[in-house]
Formats: sequence, C-alpha cells, structure tokens
Amino acid sequence: MALLDVEDLSVTFARRGQRTVHAVDGVSFSVDAGEVVGLVGESGCGKSVTSLAIMGLLPKQPGLRVGGKAVFDGTDLLQLDDRSRRDIRGRDVAMIFQDPLSSLNPVIPIGLQVTEVLTRHRGMKGAAAEKEAAELLDRVGIPDPKRRLKEYPHQLSGGMRQRALIAMAVACQPRLLIADEPTTALDVTIQAQILELLKELVRDSGTALVMITHDLGVVAGMCDTVNVLYGGRVVETARRRPLFREPRHPYTVGLLASVPRLDAGRGERLNPIPGSVRDLLPWADGCAFAPRCARRVDECVGEPPALVLAHDGRSYRCVNPAPLPGTLPPPAAAGAAPAAEAPAGTAKAAEATAGPVPAPREEEKP
Ligand SMILES: Nc1ncnc2c1ncn2[C@@H]1O[C@H](COP(=O)(O)OP(=O)(O)OP(=O)(O)O)[C@@H](O)[C@H]1O
Ligand code: SF4
Ligand SMILES: [Mg+2]
Repeated sequence: MALLDVEDLSVTFARRGQRTVHAVDGVSFSVDAGEVVGLVGESGCGKSVTSLAIMGLLPKQPGLRVGGKAVFDGTDLLQLDDRSRRDIRGRDVAMIFQDPLSSLNPVIPIGLQVTEVLTRHRGMKGAAAEKEAAELLDRVGIPDPKRRLKEYPHQLSGGMRQRALIAMAVACQPRLLIADEPTTALDVTIQAQILELLKELVRDSGTALVMITHDLGVVAGMCDTVNVLYGGRVVETARRRPLFREPRHPYTVGLLASVPRLDAGRGERLNPIPGSVRDLLPWADGCAFAPRCARRVDECVGEPPALVLAHDGRSYRCVNPAPLPGTLPPPAAAGAAPAAEAPAGTAKAAEATAGPVPAPREEEKP
C-alpha cells in the first residue's frame, strides 16, 4: 500500500444563483515513500484544490462538498477532526503553498518561524537551531541569512518568502510533502537550487513528494510518475519517460507540443492547444477536452470516456488516443479529424517534442 492513496476525490463549490463548480471530479493517485509524483495541467484544472482538500485546508464556505478518500499511512485524512488533522500536519505532512504570504505569520520574524519548526520537529534549541535556520536559508538561496532571520515576512520579496517557506518545509523532514508550484515565482538559478534541495529531501529522508506544477521542465527533472489533469479529472497517468516519449492523451500531447524547443528551426511555429481551459464540456456530456481536441470523434461526446488501463501500467481517459509509434491507429480513429488538423495529436508531434521514438510496440487493449 502506498504512503498516500487518494481515491475518487471530488470537490464541488455550489453557490446560490451560480453554476456549481466541479473543481475536482473523481481524482485518484498514489505516492510511495521516496517517490515524486507530479500533478500537471493548465490553470484552473484543480491542482491546488486537490492539494488543499488533502490537507483539510479548503476555505470552510457554504456549498463546499468534499468526497472520496485521502488515506495517509492507513488514516483517511478527510475523516479527521480539526485537532487530529493539525497534529498530523505538524508531524508528518507538510505543504508549500502557491501563495507564500498567506502561510507565513506576518507578526513573527522569519527566524523564529524557522527555529520553531526545528524545535518542534527535530528537538533543536537555542544557538544550534539558529545556526541550522541560517544554513537552511542559505541553502534555499537567501543572501545574508543571519540578517534575514531577524526580518518579518513583509520585508522579504515574494521569491524570498517562497524560499523561506520551502526552508521551513524542508526543516520538518515530513513523510509527505505537497509542493504547490514551489518554484514558479523564482528565477531559474534559484529554481534549480530549490529543486535539488527537494530531491535531496526525497532521497535522504524518504519523503513522498507531490509536485504540483504547470512547468513540464520541472516535471522532466523531478517526477517519477506524472498525473495530467484536465477539467478536474486525471486524464493520463504514466511514469515520466513513457509520458514524455509516447504521450497517449491528446491533451498531454498538446501540452508537450506547446513547449518551446531550443533546437526548433528558425521561424518554426509553436503548437499551442487551440482554445482555452474555459472551453470545457461538462464531463457528464462527454470528454471535457472535446471542444479543443483535434482527434475528436463521434464517440467522444455523449458520455464521459472511461479510464483505459494499459498493460505497461499507464492509464488514460480517451477513446481515440494518440497511436503508439509504429502501430495502426485504433479503430475509433476511423472518423477522426484529418492528420493535417491534428498536429498535436500525432506520434510525430510527440517525437518532435520528446526526442527519438522507441521501437514499435503492440497497441494495448482497454
Ligand atoms: N473557494 C473557491 N470557491 C469557488 N471556486 C473555487 C474556489 N477555489 C477554487 N475554485 C475553482 O476551482 C477550480 C480549480 O481551481 P484551482 O485553484 O485548483 O486551479 P489550479 O489548477 O491550481 O490553477 P493554477 O495553475 O492557476 O494555480 C477553478 O475553476 C477555480 O475557480
Ligand atoms: S479523442 Fe475524444 S476522448 Fe480523446 S481527448 Fe479527444 S475528445 Fe477526448
Ligand atoms: Mg493552483
């Protein structure tokens, strides 16, 4: 059994007079100790709401409904009362928030906030805790850490606050860490330093890391397994290599094809996914990605596509997935859009994005 098993998690926000938002709609994934699992997708696909639901940190607003399970080491986090949840959050589970200001205490100096974590979790006190706190700030790339320890959150830049939060999360050595876009606000050199630090934490402490990001570069450098989200559902799950080499879901193919490449020819155009995440079909009416999908066929609309479990352990939610290199298109592709309309949905596009394609392989059966 995995350290964290998220099963059929759903979060809806209902507001009087407004459309109900199905922010998370039956999301399942798991994370083992020492594993890095990515949650990837465009803005609004439900990444942060998924993590906040697992942590029990969604705003307690009328109309909020949370369903499913998030089982951490045998305990369903969604069933805990506030006190037990606070205990487990302090002791075993930590989160790096997308918005750092809201998660630092504005009236307590940074140093005290970091040393408090070191005292609570690692029994360090006095000068030893202060020395370790300064070292941690140094490791997350905060210059002049001794001076910064005395400062309050508002005296630090946004990027520094993010890094102070990361230092606190690392100080806990949690069994499970959920990092929501931990490096988005940081410049690339600091980003590399932070990712290295998180990797060390996973390697040395066996921390299970859930990495939430829309940055495929971060995914490529960090994640063992990747879950691609669209419209509140996981549309593809795969180990990192097969996902980058042979993406099957047209949305994953589109995400990979939209990444700029240094080796692209002069004047070569990017292949963005047409439309926006707002062009969403309700899952109840078919595939949510259908309005933007170049591989759309008649079967895509009417009822939601089932999750296909492939023999290599990957899964995708699509009736007309991108074919594996060297295989015939699956039967459903008979009525598919012509190839010229499907630049993002072809093995060629995958090859262009992810490098050479591997040897042909048998098409899996649903
Ligand atoms: N408190 C809330 N009340 C109502 N709707 C909400 C609330 N919080 C989030 N949502 C909606 O839930 C959906 C998912 O939001 P979420 O913040 O999880 O997206 P995200 O994938 O993290 O996006 P980003 O990459 O921009 O951070 C969005 O449509 C958002 O508007
Ligand atoms: S082919 Fe159909 S089911 Fe697959 S992503 Fe496109 S619209 Fe959805
Ligand atoms: Mg978010």
